[in-house]
Amino acid sequence: MANNKPKSPQGMQVGRKIDSGVLKRVMKLLFSSFPVLMPLTIGCIIFSSITAAAPAIFQQQVIADIERFYLSGDWSAAAKVILPKVGILIGFYVLSMVSITLYTQLMAYITQGFLHKMRVKMFDGMQNLPIKYFDTHKHGDIMSYYTNDIDTLRELISRALPTLLQASIVVVTVFIIMIYYSMLMTAVVLLGVVAMFLVTKTVGGGSAKYFMRQQKSVAKTEGFIQEMMSGQRVIKVFNHEDACKKDFDDVNEALFNDSFRAHAYANSLGPIIQNIGNVLYVVIATVGGVFLLSKTPNLGIRSIINGGLGIITIDIMVPFLNMAKQFTGNINQLSQQINVVAMGLAGAKRIFDVMDEAPEVDDGYVTLVNMTTDKDGNIVESDKRTGKWAWRHPHGDGTVTYTELKGDVTMEHVDFAYTEDKPVLFDVSVYAKPGQKVAFVGATGAGKTTITNLINRFYDIADGKIRYDGININKIRKSDLRRSLGIVLQETNLFTGSVLDNIRYGRLDATDEECIAAARLVGADDFITRLPGGYNTALSNNGANLSQGQRQLIAIARAAVADPPVMILDEATSSIDTRTEAIVQKGMDKLMESRTVFVIAHRLSTVKNSDVIMVLDHGKIIERGSHEKLIADKGTYYQLYMGAFELE
Ligand SMILES: Nc1ncnc2c1ncn2[C@@H]1O[C@H](COP(=O)(O)OP(=O)(O)O)[C@@H](O)[C@H]1O
Ligand SMILES: [Mg+2]
Repeated sequence: MANNKPKSPQGMQVGRKIDSGVLKRVMKLLFSSFPVLMPLTIGCIIFSSITAAAPAIFQQQVIADIERFYLSGDWSAAAKVILPKVGILIGFYVLSMVSITLYTQLMAYITQGFLHKMRVKMFDGMQNLPIKYFDTHKHGDIMSYYTNDIDTLRELISRALPTLLQASIVVVTVFIIMIYYSMLMTAVVLLGVVAMFLVTKTVGGGSAKYFMRQQKSVAKTEGFIQEMMSGQRVIKVFNHEDACKKDFDDVNEALFNDSFRAHAYANSLGPIIQNIGNVLYVVIATVGGVFLLSKTPNLGIRSIINGGLGIITIDIMVPFLNMAKQFTGNINQLSQQINVVAMGLAGAKRIFDVMDEAPEVDDGYVTLVNMTTDKDGNIVESDKRTGKWAWRHPHGDGTVTYTELKGDVTMEHVDFAYTEDKPVLFDVSVYAKPGQKVAFVGATGAGKTTITNLINRFYDIADGKIRYDGININKIRKSDLRRSLGIVLQETNLFTGSVLDNIRYGRLDATDEECIAAARLVGADDFITRLPGGYNTALSNNGANLSQGQRQLIAIARAAVADPPVMILDEATSSIDTRTEAIVQKGMDKLMESRTVFVIAHRLSTVKNSDVIMVLDHGKIIERGSHEKLIADKGTYYQLYMGAFELE
């Protein structure tokens, strides 16, 4: 995808804005990351630029010498004067070459080192972002920070910035040398530059428009292909292959047209600029020749210092031809690189935005510790894994109290909205006593998952309304809160690795035996042992080689090995057949013993034996009670149960 990325238009065109704030930040980061190498590199760039511009001075002197000695005819004296200057000239070119080689090597190291650092910063930052960030940003966009934006940043640091620096130094140096010799000739060169600008702006403007279109077309094509890949099954089921090919032809055709136009313009721009350069060369030679013959004043600073206006001579003319080329060439470079810089800074800004994204705040100070009890029955903190947990609650006066983790979760009159304008939960109160099984039922979108999102603090509500063992959950450190909760979701995520690795994800220090025991407990052992590699079967691509139900079984085993006091099962068994579910249920029942469990399921048989069932409707709890009570009440639950209307 990276090769396919639209390149910036060639040649001169202005219009993109340089974000100086971002530029400053990039430079600051570069200097702080490479405090020695950066100045060294910049020194090399400056040195090489000056050595590239300076030879004009020696050229002028050598030509003046040749002219002088040509008239006198004293060639041995000429050699004595001229050869050392030629030597110096060669020396300059060698030095310039050496410093260019050095700085390009340094730049490669700095660039890659910098990008490495940025990727680390971005990834670390991303791990600390709240769930909300991932809910509200397209995953494709997040991916492109690591690919496209890093790529433009690479262009910026490795190519655009050094070239910009180098070209500006050459332009300034050459300009100074030019006006030193002749302001009149300099004016001619500047006129040429203006002409060049006008032409390239006309041609380049069109090119920029098509490059923008090309960029959009590329994104559209990428999006299309991505969608087609993830939707392959649906495409095949509905026999949409031909329609898809047709749709793809359309996007592809548009991409072709836009890219073709963009590049046709851009490709012609290079030769045009080249030819304008050549024309300028001829113009300067001709105009200069006329000046030379008519002994026109050169108006050089040098002559003015010497108290006259001077005249244009051959030793001024010849270096001017070269300087004019250098001058226009570097101005052209500058205008090209400004586009790359603008694009790179736009990429850098997006990367900084991710890095600046506010991390998930966690001011929790109540932590989870292993506990034992002393002979008086007091809770004592233990550094061993005792299987019993307590909340460690430090107070303002320096004292610490311990509360045994029991799994008592209460929500009182909770209102919640993901976005201001769309409330999702209304006055929800839930009381889950330790060891109870609390079930939520209700139609899709009723707010079941949202309740669990609040318990594990993926989203926060205003103070004090959710309590865990009597402690306001906002006071509990998030990592400890989540450690105490085992969550199994309908959407399972398995990672690349073996089945065993994926189960161990629940608790990284679990032994193989503990992982296998957990799998046995939840009834996953049976199918795992029948896999070709058993527990060592490699999974990849989110476990694409397993059935959805098998994936859920692994996810349940993963929660079981974590052995948390509170479990949240959000449609965790929805893809498991009823017969297997009965087996799983037995294991789960064992798993649920002495734990507080929140179950969300649309199969009412799954929730039937819960201690309390909450029926949710549009964010409100409309019925609550045991299965028997709700049936006797003959309300919504009763109707659901009797199959009067189906859930989902
Ligand atoms: N991350 C989110 N951002 C905004 N709205 C959401 C988000 N997640 C869920 N919702 C909305 O909240 C409502 C309840 O969703 P949810 O709790 O997932 O329902 P369910 O009962 O099916 O689990 C729905 O209307 C849904 O559109
Ligand atoms: Mg849900």
